[in-house]
Amino acid sequence: MKKTPTTILIALLLTFSFILNAQQEDTAKLKSVYFEVNDYVEDNEGCLKCHGEQKFKLEDAFGRTVTEHMCPDRFVDRDKYYSSVHKSFSCTDCHSYDLFEFPHPLEARIEEKMICMDCHGYDESYAQYHFETIEVEFQESIHNIDEFSCWKCHDPHSYKAFMRNADDIEAAVLYDNEMCLSCHANFSQFMVLTDRGEINLVESHDWLPNQVAHFRSVRCIECHTEINDSILIAHKIMPKTEAVKNCTECHSRDSHLMHTLYKFQVKEDRKAGFANAIILNNSYVIGANQNIVLNWLSLLVFGLTFLVILFHTVMRIIKLKDK
Ligand code: HEC
Ligand code: HEC
Ligand code: HEC
Ligand code: HEC
Ligand code: HEC
Ligand code: HEC
Ligand code: HEC
Repeated sequence: MKKTPTTILIALLLTFSFILNAQQEDTAKLKSVYFEVNDYVEDNEGCLKCHGEQKFKLEDAFGRTVTEHMCPDRFVDRDKYYSSVHKSFSCTDCHSYDLFEFPHPLEARIEEKMICMDCHGYDESYAQYHFETIEVEFQESIHNIDEFSCWKCHDPHSYKAFMRNADDIEAAVLYDNEMCLSCHANFSQFMVLTDRGEINLVESHDWLPNQVAHFRSVRCIECHTEINDSILIAHKIMPKTEAVKNCTECHSRDSHLMHTLYKFQVKEDRKAGFANAIILNNSYVIGANQNIVLNWLSLLVFGLTFLVILFHTVMRIIKLKDK
């Protein structure tokens, strides 16, 4: 074959793209953003080479390599981990060093885990979150049963303070609802915590019209918690008999929904018909619409009409007298 400049160029390009590909494969595994937020990325790989993969490799007693499937319950997603509130942590900040051994020793697996309050309770720097109030609310909630802890809703490897930082309410609603659905739409998670049979959410909410639209725009906690204005996220989940079933609690002006989902939006925004226009994607929720500009405008129109009538009457009286 004749070595034309074109074939040389193609050959060069091919080699180049090969190198690029190889590099991409490396960075696909360990993105540079991980190193920006965490000083222990390489240590964590000691765990994530198994827990961060769908499958992992092991050496059997004869030195042969076998490939195993990582069970989804024990899978830790790197992207989610390194964007969670605890993104700067090493695995061994919360877990035993003995877990570097495999097979994992039993004692290390059933280690006592630290809870939120151990690190955040009565700490000034986290005062805005009101951990102490949340702790009390959790104690009083229906989930205060054996083996249930804050971690059951707050996945230790992915939790974000989503709602607080959200500019997209719909995404935040989805995020919060998924926390509940991880059990309430997944019986295998639910059943390890209780002897109760499966709860069919669609059936237990069949009194609610258009469930899909409602579950997309309101959070489970809107209806299932007691209003508590001192915290952003109410945590006292009540028995089902106390859940909101009355439509007017939301479909009215000073609604339940306004007290919970939109509490962090400034009151001014709400007055300007904010709830319907922005949050509810313009779908109409009866009574939620109150536009202050329109209110004043209608007063002005009303006042002007009154003045015109008054002027007219006065003129008529004067004219009558003249006759
Ligand atoms: C060689 C692969 C491998 C490595 C490395 C590894 N693990 Fe594991 N780990 C597993 C497998 C497989 C299981 C499930 C079987 C079992 O429970 O022993 C497991 C189970 C666990 C469990 C218990 C899950 C449960 O439900 O009881 C925890 C916690 C854990 N690993 C944490 C870690 C941490 C932290 C590290 C790093 C310090 C680590 N693992 C390193 C493969 C690994
Ligand atoms: C902020 C503390 C914390 C950090 C950091 C942490 N874990 Fe966990 N991990 C926990 C807790 C708490 C549980 C038990 C969860 C529960 O009870 O539902 C757990 C459970 C696990 C399990 C058992 C399966 C599961 O998800 O319940 C595995 C596997 C695991 N962790 C691996 C890791 C790996 C790998 C890392 C590092 C990349 C890590 N963890 C970092 C707190 C942490
Ligand atoms: C082992 C100690 C420890 C435990 C247990 C723990 N945290 Fe944290 N948490 C921290 C530290 C340290 C930070 C700050 C991390 C940083 O700035 O990189 C933090 C950050 C946070 C933040 C973000 C705070 C901010 O303003 O940036 C939230 C929210 C949070 N944790 C919630 C929780 C919740 C909820 C739990 C229990 C489910 C929990 N944490 C358990 C130590 C812990
Ligand atoms: C039944 C589920 C559930 C349980 C149990 C639970 N939480 Fe929460 N928590 C949530 C939800 C949902 C949010 C809203 C998440 C978001 O979008 O920010 C939240 C948010 C938070 C926040 C952030 C609040 C803010 O102002 O931004 C903190 C702090 C918190 N929880 C602490 C705790 C503590 C401490 C416990 C245990 C005593 C606990 N949670 C138990 C569901 C739960
Ligand atoms: C880790 C699993 C888990 C998560 C996450 C979870 N739940 Fe539950 N939930 C349960 C279990 C288990 C029960 C049954 C408790 C019992 O034995 O009575 C329950 C019961 C309930 C009940 C029924 C109470 C009654 O009177 O029958 C409601 C309502 C409820 N949860 C709402 C929620 C909401 C809202 C969320 C999210 C903020 C949530 N749950 C998150 C496991 C979970
Ligand atoms: C519009 C208000 C509303 C919303 C939103 C809502 N619920 Fe409910 N939920 C109720 C009411 C009211 C009941 C009691 C129904 C009854 O007993 O007839 C109930 C019942 C339940 C029960 C108990 C069912 C049973 O048969 O024991 C669970 C569990 C539950 N809801 C979880 C959730 C979860 C998870 C979400 C979010 C995906 C959610 N709910 C959203 C109002 C609501
Ligand atoms: C927790 C607050 C809440 C409660 C309780 C509630 N709604 Fe709604 N509803 C909403 C919100 C928010 C929307 C806007 C949903 C959307 O379209 O995105 C909505 C939308 C609707 C719609 C229009 C749905 C569509 O097709 O767009 C109807 C009809 C409706 N609700 C009827 C009811 C009735 C009837 C009840 C009582 C059985 C009820 N709602 C209870 C909050 C609530």
